[in-house]
Amino acid sequence: MTTQIKSRAQYLEEYAASVNDPEAFWRKEAETFKWQQPFDAVVDWDFRELNVKWFLNGKLNITENCLDRHIENRGDQLALIWEPNGADEASKGYTYKELLAEVNRCANGLKSKGVQKGDRVIFYMPMIPELAIAVLACARIGAIHSVVFAGFSAQALTDRVDDAEAKMIICADYNRRGYKNIPVKQVVDEAMDIGCNSVESVLVFKNTGDEVNWSDDVDCWWSDIVTDQSDICRPEIMDSEDVLFILYTSGSTGKPKGVVHTCGGYMVYTCYSFRNVFQYQEGDIYWCTADIGWITGHSYILYGPLLAGATSMMFEGVPTYPDAGRFWAICEKHRVNQFYTAPTAIRALMARGDEWPAKYDLSALKVLGSVGEPINEEAWHWYNDKIGKGKAPIVDTWWQTETGGIMLSPLPHITDTKPTYAGYPLPGIQPVLVNSDGKILNDNNVEGLLCIKFPWPSMIRTTYGDHNRCKEVYFSMFDNLYFTGDGARRDEDGRIRVIGRVDDVINVSGHRMGTAEVENAINEQESVIESAVVGYPHPIKGQGIYAFIISSAKKLDDELKLEICKTVSKEIGPIAKPDCIQFVDGLPKTRSGKIMRRILRKIASDDDAHLGDISTLLNPDIVELIKKGAIRR
Ligand code: WT7
Repeated sequence: MTTQIKSRAQYLEEYAASVNDPEAFWRKEAETFKWQQPFDAVVDWDFRELNVKWFLNGKLNITENCLDRHIENRGDQLALIWEPNGADEASKGYTYKELLAEVNRCANGLKSKGVQKGDRVIFYMPMIPELAIAVLACARIGAIHSVVFAGFSAQALTDRVDDAEAKMIICADYNRRGYKNIPVKQVVDEAMDIGCNSVESVLVFKNTGDEVNWSDDVDCWWSDIVTDQSDICRPEIMDSEDVLFILYTSGSTGKPKGVVHTCGGYMVYTCYSFRNVFQYQEGDIYWCTADIGWITGHSYILYGPLLAGATSMMFEGVPTYPDAGRFWAICEKHRVNQFYTAPTAIRALMARGDEWPAKYDLSALKVLGSVGEPINEEAWHWYNDKIGKGKAPIVDTWWQTETGGIMLSPLPHITDTKPTYAGYPLPGIQPVLVNSDGKILNDNNVEGLLCIKFPWPSMIRTTYGDHNRCKEVYFSMFDNLYFTGDGARRDEDGRIRVIGRVDDVINVSGHRMGTAEVENAINEQESVIESAVVGYPHPIKGQGIYAFIISSAKKLDDELKLEICKTVSKEIGPIAKPDCIQFVDGLPKTRSGKIMRRILRKIASDDDAHLGDISTLLNPDIVELIKKGAIRR
């Protein structure tokens, strides 16, 4: 197993070692895994030309390390616990032995449909065990998985399928979320009608058994393909730098990009970071509430915990069904030891009152995690006091889809916690703050742009199909640095607090979205002439979506707003629907025609008393008009 740090002194020692001799540091960690052929160099990197390779020429299969490796010592220990949507339904468990058998059956099923090493498989699934099984089955045979969050629309699904040129889509008939049954097979059918020409088959898991449309040419049932397969499947031999998965995420331009992660480095870093940040001990029950459609689910429901031989729980439902005590009921029922969730969920549950957590026995909790967005002070204290009772340290973990694993976080009971601070870097991570000229700020007590100056094993390798874009977006802003897109401050003791995005990316309920992406969707509504989207502070969601829209419609009313929201739902999904729509006659623009978002952000945030100098605008008069019509909360 990878090293588990036990004291502050050891953290400082490991950190220093990781900076002084990164190769020796990561060699030691990597050698704890099963390699089919040892690697012959630790790292080869060049940020300027963007070429990063870890554990060169090593051969491995990540599922052999997640599953087979544990059979001898913990074959009968639970690997996965699944908690269903309904509170009165039975949960389900899979031991390491059972999970391996299921993964192998599914892997053989995928092969029988012609899926081979290097093929892309898109997932559009609920949070059920079969999602975990099929994702690992892809990794077993060297197929590249790309999980699409099932809240995305048919159009968004098509965009991703087409970009990845996927050979197969795996979905369920219906997803269950709270009171609702969501017809996901129908969404896949729509996606297939719009595009998805590369798809040869759609594998459907019968989840609810409700009726679906069927096309014998492409559709096949999980039970026909997977269930009767052999439970033995030889793991495909993968190179360290073979692609493990693609995960689509939003950037400042319109089109989502496929972040590429590779086998070797991702394996080493997710296991290492999991064991240290959550201080997982033998026998603990660990629960991360994320959806596997996001990177958090990949790294810290599936790969990290399984690599570490942990018992990891996944939950099908939502935090408020059947009531606002569900998370805490589950923590009590399974005696959860480490709990990992997002600030937006904490804020939403906090708003429902202290009586909900008070009903349940939360005494098993040892570590509380937070991820996805800055956690505000009030939510931090509520989480600390009402959930952890002051005894379970909060690990505020900062990282990104692109980083693959947690980069900044306290280590519970080892390094200190400070509200709203993600704290110190994990060993192996070298963050720097720079000013807008790219000058590295070495002092403490400064604010700057957060960059990373040395590679780490689970970092993004490329954006799928467009290496140049990856180079441009992350490595060209500042010389020889990876740019995160976040602004941050470092306090007097060197702890880092991540403040938020400095680019045109917003974070709504922990969902990352490009403002350009939302604008493109709004512009699809026929009466829309032009739009500008900005984020504003929202008490529950962290950020809300505020859209300024120029429309040609005769009636600028609520009905039109509804139409626009419908269009956005169709283009991206309900998560991208604007919270506020203001119809305007014009948008503030520079003389070169660029929308001045700074001004719109201030108006949307109710913070427009001092807008600074606007005289250089092409149309300064429009600002007063927009201010007058602003939606105030
Ligand atoms: C962006 C990445 C990391 C997995 C889930 C989100 C923001 C993330 C924190 C945190 C402040 C945070 C950043 C980052 N973010 N964690 N602990 N404190 N901000 O992954 O969708 O790739 O989004 O989320 O702005 O850049 P993602």
